[in-house]
Amino acid sequence: MKKNKNKKRRGVYLDYAATTPVDPRVIKVMIPYFKEKFGNTVSLHSFGREAKEALEKSREVAADLIKAKPKEIIFTSSATESNNLAIKGAALANQKKGRHIIISPIEHLCVLESAQWLAKQGFKITKLAVDKYGLINLNELKKAISQETILVSIISASNEIGTLQPLQEIGQICRQKGVYFHTDAAQSFGKIPIDVNQMKIDLLTGCSHKIYGPKGAACLFVRDGIKIEPILSGGEHEFGLRAGTINVPAIVGFAEAIKLCQKEMAVEIKRLTKLRDKLISGVLKIKGAHLNGHPTKRLPNNANFWFDFIEGESIVIQLDSFGLAASTGSACSSLKLEPSHVLLAVGLKPQEAHGSLRLTLGRWTTEKDIDYLLKVLPKVVEKLRKISPFK
Ligand SMILES: Cc1ncc(COP(=O)(O)O)c(C=O)c1O
Repeated sequence: MKKNKNKKRRGVYLDYAATTPVDPRVIKVMIPYFKEKFGNTVSLHSFGREAKEALEKSREVAADLIKAKPKEIIFTSSATESNNLAIKGAALANQKKGRHIIISPIEHLCVLESAQWLAKQGFKITKLAVDKYGLINLNELKKAISQETILVSIISASNEIGTLQPLQEIGQICRQKGVYFHTDAAQSFGKIPIDVNQMKIDLLTGCSHKIYGPKGAACLFVRDGIKIEPILSGGEHEFGLRAGTINVPAIVGFAEAIKLCQKEMAVEIKRLTKLRDKLISGVLKIKGAHLNGHPTKRLPNNANFWFDFIEGESIVIQLDSFGLAASTGSACSSLKLEPSHVLLAVGLKPQEAHGSLRLTLGRWTTEKDIDYLLKVLPKVVEKLRKISPFK
């Protein structure tokens, strides 16, 4: 490919799964909570009461999104923290019943590492296999649950390949067998409908900065009656389950982000699915391009590919020089030069798993952005393939 003299930096962001910009409507409602409404939720004076009221209103909003009760929502600082609290907290509180936990091999690192931490404390961890799309096998799940099992934690939507797990069926099995079901919904919360009662989910992680809210806020749904141990020692905030002064501005912003997602969800699902499918069919026209994840059971905003003989990192760097922001695998593992554990789990060879490109769409993605990507990517692939040492 010749040096492109007309190359324009368009600043096209296609990495919404890593994080999203904060919606200006969200920023607007947050600002007073940094200034005049700065109180601490546990203070007894009017500033404190004002902050507490904002916190409780936010709890109602978060609960409503997933059909939970407000008292079942605990605010935390991140999805990482919510996942740690759900997994370690449920394991530690229920270890008298048993010390066995089931996860999948395509969980986010914070789930895998929480399970690993428990394994060091003597818990037994089973990782279910997944098929080539990243789906778990429900019969294998049934077989894996024993008298010792206390918790099943399965990611709702893969942050890398976008595959959606059958939450309702998993929930049904867990309920029948009397084990708790946690799902890491950091990527699906606010993007697709979730009903924790219909789906029989006991613990669920949601995240603010993936849905146009600020960083520093997330939530954990804990079904009424379920015991978990806090993992932070300190005050009695969040029903004694999460000590530390409440980050009111971030939580108020998170709640506003939730409201907007809820209001716009049906239209946004349709719009993004159409753009995603255009993107997928366009990219698959490139020779040696392959789709990762399920063709239809996937997040409306996720597309993930691998390309013969090319590394994902080099594609991402080249796309960046054209003003296109994409990623390879998940944001957290992009600093590691190892192949993605998710792609290895779905059966790709290490050299194929290195070739992945994740393109994730969002609120400000337009058809023009997709057209631009589809114009640039074939040239980038051709150039990189010419110089590839793997051919
Ligand atoms: C599925 C999933 N779980 C957990 C996390 C962790 O989120 P955070 O880094 O905001 O704590 C992420 C972030 O990428 C994610 O995609």
